[in-house]
Amino acid sequence: MFSMFKRASLTMLSLMAALVFALSLPAHAEQKESDVAQREMTQLAGADFWRQVRQGEEGYTTSQFPEHGTLISTPGQTWYILKEKWMSPAGAIAIFGSIAFVTLVYLFMGPIMLSAPRTGKRIKRWSRLDRAMHWSMAFTFLTLGFSGLMLVYGKHFLKPYIPADLWGFIIMLAKQYHNYIGPIFGVLLICVLVKWWRKSIFTKVDFVWFIKLGGMVGKHKGSHPSAGFSNAGEKALFWLLIVVGSVVAVSGLVLDFPIFGQTRRDMELSNLVHMLAALILICGFVFHIYIGLFGMEGALEGMVTGEVDETWAKEHHDLWYEEVMAKEQNAQAAEPNQDKVKGATTNEQTS
Ligand code: HEM
Repeated sequence: MFSMFKRASLTMLSLMAALVFALSLPAHAEQKESDVAQREMTQLAGADFWRQVRQGEEGYTTSQFPEHGTLISTPGQTWYILKEKWMSPAGAIAIFGSIAFVTLVYLFMGPIMLSAPRTGKRIKRWSRLDRAMHWSMAFTFLTLGFSGLMLVYGKHFLKPYIPADLWGFIIMLAKQYHNYIGPIFGVLLICVLVKWWRKSIFTKVDFVWFIKLGGMVGKHKGSHPSAGFSNAGEKALFWLLIVVGSVVAVSGLVLDFPIFGQTRRDMELSNLVHMLAALILICGFVFHIYIGLFGMEGALEGMVTGEVDETWAKEHHDLWYEEVMAKEQNAQAAEPNQDKVKGATTNEQTS
């Protein structure tokens, strides 16, 4: 039995090794092709020619574009090193670090559960428009995030393992999607700002919420610090989205439309700023998505159905709950008066 299992494992291992070897062949072939092309180019034009080009020697062209004569821009090497050797690995560490952090929070602290049973009374929290905006924003952000990460990291974790044609198709799709959908993110950002800025202004209550770390950790753990419609954490995330998201959107537009006289330096700077800001947002929103999906009982149903349970409202947003209740009582108090007015009008009409 054991030897049969051993033989099966060996066969599996051999098959996997063969597969990895087969998949890595196109990458080797491609590397060889590019080496040959580089050697041919050097031979064709001569080493002196390429040395001059690298030193910034300008050629002649009828184009009126800035830097039109510069074939190879040597300072671009600094951009390349900053992007590939520093920002790219640091970004990967930050993203995996954030995911590892929320995984540890889930494993060791667990989700924040309601401390009292649900009452069953539903309270309206998000309108249809709010929800449409949120989920459009979430979808655009996440798909832009995936396509952007593919553009930066795909060559390391995917390209060596799939056929060259498939890689070419995937990366072309990622690039086109990123270029065309990017501006929509900017538009949604403006919509979200217009609709939600008022409820995201910080107040004194938020300061206490921060001091108590939201009642999530430390000596205030388990307490529910007071909060209005949004708590201080949500407000902070909202302004992070608006400020850093605007940087992402504007730098993205500079890259998307290189028709306003941007030089290579402008494009390189925009590229670095775009990547850094996007990485900050992705890490920030790993935590938001964790809380929304797994970290807090009852939060997601609010954003899906538009309504939350009374217990959830009372525990997480007590000041908002009191406001809603006060409005409800005022409306109920006004109702009999309205009935009286209606009755009086009917009596007047019939008499
Ligand atoms: C799977 C992904 C996501 C889930 C499950 C999720 C879930 C939620 C939930 C449950 C709320 C409501 C919290 C409450 O009622 O207090 C919320 C609010 C919000 N979400 Fe998301 N979200 C996701 C992705 C995103 C993304 C990608 C963004 C932006 C890029 C985003 C931006 C916001 C904003 C701005 C709010 C309003 C916070 C406030 O000011 O009260 N969400 N989300």
